[in-house]
Amino acid sequence: MQRAELSGGALRNIVLSHKNIQGSIDKKANSMKKEIKIMLVGMGTVGGSFLKILVSKKSWLEEQNLKVKVLATVSKEFITLAGKGEAVHVDALLSPKKYPKNNAENKVLPYCEQRLYETLAGGLSEDIDIIVEATPTLLGQKESPALKLFRYALAEGVSVVTANKAPIAEHYAELHALALKHKASLRFESTVLSGTPLFNMAQAAMNGLEFHKIEGVLNGTCNYILSRMEEGLEYSAALKQAQTLGYAESNPIADVGGSDSLLKAVILANFFMKASLQPDTSLLCGIQGVTQERIKEAKAKNCVLKLIASIERNSALDSPKISLGIKEIAGDHPLFSVRDAYNGIVFHAPLIDTISIFGKGAGGDTAAFGLFSDMLLVAKKF
Ligand SMILES: NC(=O)c1ccc[n+]([C@@H]2O[C@H](COP(=O)([O-])OP(=O)(O)OC[C@H]3O[C@@H](n4cnc5c(N)ncnc54)[C@H](OP(=O)(O)O)[C@@H]3O)[C@@H](O)[C@H]2O)c1
Repeated sequence: MQRAELSGGALRNIVLSHKNIQGSIDKKANSMKKEIKIMLVGMGTVGGSFLKILVSKKSWLEEQNLKVKVLATVSKEFITLAGKGEAVHVDALLSPKKYPKNNAENKVLPYCEQRLYETLAGGLSEDIDIIVEATPTLLGQKESPALKLFRYALAEGVSVVTANKAPIAEHYAELHALALKHKASLRFESTVLSGTPLFNMAQAAMNGLEFHKIEGVLNGTCNYILSRMEEGLEYSAALKQAQTLGYAESNPIADVGGSDSLLKAVILANFFMKASLQPDTSLLCGIQGVTQERIKEAKAKNCVLKLIASIERNSALDSPKISLGIKEIAGDHPLFSVRDAYNGIVFHAPLIDTISIFGKGAGGDTAAFGLFSDMLLVAKKF
């Protein structure tokens, strides 16, 4: 009614001034940066790469109106704390010295569990929103330091993103429930296929699918060794090459003995098929016994040998079964072309038939990217 009484010019002015007000509100909202306050636990290959990503993506983060504030970093020996209102001086941590001395920006303290929990509870720093965790996967431990930390953090409502397989393979149901109860997030993109998008992509676009089979080449070290053996190298020479390139550790047993693949298969089964499986060591199968004769036998049939993890069930109500084995893979199989340190997973489900995801299965940068994308997804919920 009122509008009809106004002249065209006055109406335009009102609309324009409304636009101006809206514009200044938007500008204000845009200028309010979202701060993500993190504690980084584990400063090795993956943790170090994560810090480098934070540095290299600083302006990109600013464009997204995000600011990542590292309030504390933790290694086996040191806890580095930022002063109140400050952030840890990350550049200093990237220097060859790795651990800075106490200085104006950083306070370096010897590691102790009590101090870690005090920091987390806000006693020694500002409140932490997210723990970014990249410590070694410890097998067969009743309560590893990482598991203890996750339980503590989630119960405090602090979100966890991790690259560490064991706590997720062995305690997913418990940690997921704890996260839900305390309105925290638990994300673990880098635990399988390293940082190649898998869980995050599935959560965005694979909802409602009922998978009856998932099969994968889940260990980059084994795949690298088998790829070199196809070219004629003996197992020991191929392993040595993998170690020189940093794909295999000096003690490679977790990779070549199959336990890394088994943990990943359990994570896949529990996440994608809502199972509650535990890693069963009787299923272990490694590649140590593979000989040139076996490789040649497969080649004669136009096949390649791969360490394949398979998760299968007859119906959506069935608990899935995991198997791990060295299989001859023919040229028409999607996993045939997954070579070197790459990993691949093939999902089978009605409606989509098969979906294959391939990507780099190891490497600090790839795994750190998984942590980075997890962190951004958690921050979206703030
Ligand atoms: N590397 C990859 O390509 C890759 C890919 C995907 C997933 N992952 C997973 O990512 C995690 C980290 O791997 P990484 O290669 O980075 O290992 P890493 O190079 O051995 O680094 C491990 C880091 O954790 C620290 N640490 C060990 N125990 C700790 C504790 N109790 N509390 C706090 N910090 C502790 C170590 O401290 P110090 O420096 O003092 O020794 C080190 O900084 C593992 O679970 C691995 O399975 C790795």
